[in-house]
Amino acid sequence: MAIKTIITEPNEILRQVSKPVIRVGNDERKLMDDMLETMYAANGIGLAAIQIGIPKRIIVMDISKDGNKNPLFFVNPIIKNKDKEKKTYEEGCLSVPNYFAEVDRPKYCEVEYLDYNGKNKILKADDLLATCIQHEMDHLEGILFIDYLSKLKKTMIVKKLSKKKNNPDRIIV
Ligand code: NI
Repeated sequence: MAIKTIITEPNEILRQVSKPVIRVGNDERKLMDDMLETMYAANGIGLAAIQIGIPKRIIVMDISKDGNKNPLFFVNPIIKNKDKEKKTYEEGCLSVPNYFAEVDRPKYCEVEYLDYNGKNKILKADDLLATCIQHEMDHLEGILFIDYLSKLKKTMIVKKLSKKKNNPDRIIV
């Protein structure tokens, strides 16, 4: 396993639409292992392959608490059903470091996908799990949570992030 670099906004790669996986083989499993290690190292609860620069429809997640690991792997996820009722969470994203904002999403959804072994599965998710999978599935379409904010707020965040990118870290020696 290897820890990969997480791409941060602004970067056009994050706006790509990811491509479906034809077959879940060893290359895909290795990618999922690397993604999981990268996500854990960054203290995240979800990561899409495009966030490490690979435009494949693959997501890893782990929303378990208390140090009990429970990794989830989603290949080619499709939302089959979702609630009209919305739930609000304050969301962040490993590709939008240090910024958080409230986003409304369907409180419940059903997702069809292939798992780590390429087996067809259905996830019935609500609350945090539903929000997390929907946030990650947005990444597959090139959508970030800041796209749901007002233009003013989004512009401000992107501006601050690009400013940070252009300035090297200041050190005093
Ligand atoms: Ni994200």
